[in-house]
Amino acid sequence: MTKLTVRDLSADQLRGQRALVRVDFNVPLDEHGHVTDDTRIRAAIPTLDYLLDRGARVVLLSHLGRPKGKPEPKYSLEPVSRRLAELVPNRTVTFVESTDSDEAIKATNALANGEILLLENTRFLAGEEKNDERLARSLAQLGDLYVNDAFGTAHRAHASTEGVAHHLAPAVAGLLMEKELAYLHGALENPLRPFVAILGGSKISGKIDVIEALLPKVDALLVGGAMACTFYKAMGLETGTSLVEPDRIDMAAALIDEAGTILILPHDAVVAPSIQDGAQSKAVGREHIPSDMAMLDIGPRTAESYARAITSAKTVLWNGPMGVFETPPFDKGTRAIADAMAKATATGATTIVGGGDSAAAVEQAGLSSKISHVSTGGGAALEFLEGKALPGVDVLNEK
Ligand code: 3PG
Repeated sequence: MTKLTVRDLSADQLRGQRALVRVDFNVPLDEHGHVTDDTRIRAAIPTLDYLLDRGARVVLLSHLGRPKGKPEPKYSLEPVSRRLAELVPNRTVTFVESTDSDEAIKATNALANGEILLLENTRFLAGEEKNDERLARSLAQLGDLYVNDAFGTAHRAHASTEGVAHHLAPAVAGLLMEKELAYLHGALENPLRPFVAILGGSKISGKIDVIEALLPKVDALLVGGAMACTFYKAMGLETGTSLVEPDRIDMAAALIDEAGTILILPHDAVVAPSIQDGAQSKAVGREHIPSDMAMLDIGPRTAESYARAITSAKTVLWNGPMGVFETPPFDKGTRAIADAMAKATATGATTIVGGGDSAAAVEQAGLSSKISHVSTGGGAALEFLEGKALPGVDVLNEK
């Protein structure tokens, strides 16, 4: 990576300094305000430990949810600070209910070396999503140096992810950010071959750019999820009541022509009258989707052949589920991909899961630790794979 990281900083640059660290603690909470998936919090701990062990005073900034520039109690980071405190029992973690305030600045100055302060949701501030210059300058008063470890939010040019970095030096990447970029960059630029990508999800529209970007780089691009049906439609097949994007059919036809044998579509499908009618589901060849049923998963023949392609590859990149994985029996295709990814990892392949739903599926299957890298970024990982610049990374200091 050409950007400076925390590992490039000297002892003097850290000891006693207030490290303003942007993390992505945008985690799910239940109705009682308990964190239901703390993956993103745990993923930030190596960076926190690195800084704290060297005597830095750590000030954390994060967003949570999508409040519209003003406080909304259900999006408070207070429950997240409690979970963080449980995960780092030997550290002092405090929480302050404001972010852009004298109270917050005072709290940063009161921190002892090795302590952590989490400030309130940055999206409670009107200027955050506008990347407001005044707010960026004001946030810069909360630290002596800036660390961006929020890979999941690096595709947003917000005051806490981009603007603030212009006003603090050094501005460097955290260890999670470094690891995310190393895996994704490595897969795109220097993959061991065969390099296989699996793309799923319901809509082709959100994946067109990533398909276009990956086609020249991969040896095979396996498609799953309801988005396969827009391709089927382009091939003139019956798609029943499946989700099809009519305005993307021409685009799907063009992609099929352009990709040749690299783009692989499911040969068979699990269909049912609806998601609630799992008992009536059946597997059919892709030419035989009944007019009153929808494709809700890839079929068993496809799952088998995709698994074979994955376990024969040296680099595998997966984004998007193969079916309605939250609702059995439509989880089998996604599960087969997760299993094959774990197998491929065990035999030495580099396997990467590109965040969002597929990361949730791997977690649900208990296989996260058996994958080389499960990205903490959904939208950010996709934008990176599309070849787009990430503003939260671009702004950091070069080596
Ligand atoms: C995410 O969950 O993808 C990131 O935290 C970014 O959140 P956002 O889509 O609300 O900007």
